[in-house]
Amino acid sequence: MTKILQNGGAKVTEVKAAISVLGSRAFSLNAWGMNYAFHVDANGDLIHDHFGTPAAVQPTEVGNGHISGWATGMTDEKRELPDSGRGDFRLPAIHIRTGAGHTVTDFKYTGYQVMRGKPELEGLPSTFGGDRDVSTLIVTLEDEESGLEATLRYSVFPSHNAVAKSYTITNKGSEEVEIKRAASFTLNLDAGEWDMVYLAGDWARETNQVRRRIDVGTQGFQSLCGYSSHFFNPFVALVSSETSETSGPAYGLSFVYSGSFAVEVERFVTDRVRANIGLNPLHLDWKLAPGESFTTPECVAVFSDQGLGGMSRNLHRLYRNHLSRSEWTHRHRPVLLNSWEGMYFDFDAEKLYTKAKDCAELGVKLYVMDDGWFGVKHPRTDDHAGLGDWVPNPDRFPNGLKDLVDRATALQVSGSKDKLKFGLWVEPEMVNPQSELYEAHPDWVLHAGKHKRTEQRSQLVLDLSRREVQDYIIDAIGSVLASADVSYVKWDNNRAIHELPSPATAHAYMLGLYRVIDSLTCRFPHILWEGCASGGGRFDPGLLHYWPQSWTSDNTDALDRLHIQFGTSLAYPPSSMGAHISAVPNHQTHRVTPLEFRAHVAMMGGSFGFELDLQSMNDDERRQIHNIVALSEKVSPYVLKGDLYRLASPESNYPAALFMLPDGSEGVLLAFCMQSRIHKFSPPLMLAGLNLNAAYEVDCKTYTGSELMRSGLKMSWDSRDYQSRVLFVKRLPDNC
Ligand code: DGJ
Repeated sequence: MTKILQNGGAKVTEVKAAISVLGSRAFSLNAWGMNYAFHVDANGDLIHDHFGTPAAVQPTEVGNGHISGWATGMTDEKRELPDSGRGDFRLPAIHIRTGAGHTVTDFKYTGYQVMRGKPELEGLPSTFGGDRDVSTLIVTLEDEESGLEATLRYSVFPSHNAVAKSYTITNKGSEEVEIKRAASFTLNLDAGEWDMVYLAGDWARETNQVRRRIDVGTQGFQSLCGYSSHFFNPFVALVSSETSETSGPAYGLSFVYSGSFAVEVERFVTDRVRANIGLNPLHLDWKLAPGESFTTPECVAVFSDQGLGGMSRNLHRLYRNHLSRSEWTHRHRPVLLNSWEGMYFDFDAEKLYTKAKDCAELGVKLYVMDDGWFGVKHPRTDDHAGLGDWVPNPDRFPNGLKDLVDRATALQVSGSKDKLKFGLWVEPEMVNPQSELYEAHPDWVLHAGKHKRTEQRSQLVLDLSRREVQDYIIDAIGSVLASADVSYVKWDNNRAIHELPSPATAHAYMLGLYRVIDSLTCRFPHILWEGCASGGGRFDPGLLHYWPQSWTSDNTDALDRLHIQFGTSLAYPPSSMGAHISAVPNHQTHRVTPLEFRAHVAMMGGSFGFELDLQSMNDDERRQIHNIVALSEKVSPYVLKGDLYRLASPESNYPAALFMLPDGSEGVLLAFCMQSRIHKFSPPLMLAGLNLNAAYEVDCKTYTGSELMRSGLKMSWDSRDYQSRVLFVKRLPDNC
């Protein structure tokens, strides 16, 4: 429940919740370790004052220095909503073609409201929280000439040093306008030496961390795939050139959206830096008729003065507690086995049942049937046919899907009180031309006039901006899920978007997708949903709002996974990562790594499992499965709820991650030696996040926090590649 505390316009000084307002014209959003402040200037513009370590609300200027230049005063205003055509020559956040045909807008302040809690963004994913978690400042602006109103919402989460921002443009004028650009968040930084850090990659090598200097001019990255993409993630950190993993200012901007986006960072000639993050302007051109409104997706901004590690932990805590609405978010996820790499398309009900029995005998709790189970006229026996026809294939399931699910879920899991659970794979946004759905509705596919419909993996993309397509998916997938006792769904998406009928369809598609997912997750709230897009192609906060986890990469090689999982953790909590043990030689890289190493790497993900044919393992490996499952269940609570300290990155050859419960009482350390080095010692492993004066037990030995953090743990490794350790850390009582 949210409550309006104060309406705008009143000339009073107000301090409510985490928001202080001075004389209706200066605003400060106050968190435990940061504040965000701006004011209204004499022209009615919203001018940014501060974002960072807590500081005075009023701008702290010493002297009246005046910098001269050709366009002085017009080029460097730090506006909260930079519009275009006046007072500024930098990239604007918004650019709107008005009814008069020009793109000049002049949004002036009209009032504000403060409320406890946070309003929902209708139709869009967003962070959430109760009256004690978050407070919201709503500021309204108006462009008199066009009749456009902008309603800016800033929600501050004090205990996470986070501000979530979105805004709504309402056309109160009499003519249609076209929104050409609407970045959700503008970050203003003072002149200085800044770097940007972001995640770039490709299929099977997602989330490589890139760090580069912000130079004079514009620099950035984007997705034009229609989805958030493997290529670039909708996240950017801006840090001082001296910021490290453990110290220095770090700003993280995370865009809560799953479609095309753009990050534009501009260091102007004055050396001031502006970063805009939001919808990709090339996929927008949104027409707004009189009376209509347009709401931007939300962007979350976090700040830490404890480097990239502190920034990630702020974001992780916020996302663990205030993003994913699934009932599984804080719950232990069952150890699963996914059939894909073990069987690909080669299965039928009897084969699946045999594998399910094997899983139950070895202590696996959830059996997931991946791609290939559907299609009647066009059976999905490979990836050329069947997508769109969500009916179990009668040749594979002569007694129906329910019969298999009933038999599998009657199996007792060895060493546990549980019965085996059953999950399945879907890819609902897609259609193969070889399908009954395409034969009936070729017009339901995204296409641009008579242009050829580009096929990728022999599939086309359904136009989810259309209501009838959304309803078809809701019905088709809903019927399958209602037909049997399904506990888990993997929602895949294996191609990018090409021929868009119009730029605006890109965003309309996302709104349609969110409606479909919202409807299905509300109807089946007990199902554990996992996102996937050929691996991590849609690992974004938008989908993590509905689903608690996402498949991190199609690359299941343990060595590559260390890079991918450490990279992903820059912006996403490990609790949201799916990570599995797969066969060796690995199917993507052909690398052979020991089972223990593969297991420990996969334990870094909140959803741990297997992706192989258990029967292909030798007797010695099979005997280890029970212990691996038991260890993963011991590690899981720390990964799900703990704060992550990236003690050393994979680049060091000795990566290590420490997960400590937020109260600092217990944790687990995952440490790795990637390659053995002849006659070289590994550096001591400095722990972090401990109390210097407290005593801790690690690996049955007692240390002080100071020893662990200042002298470090001496890790000794043998002369062989791919070694790993799992060490539990326990704080001992103070009098011990
Ligand atoms: C891509 C996914 O990332 C894989 O895990 C698997 O589900 C295949 N699609 C199935 O087609």
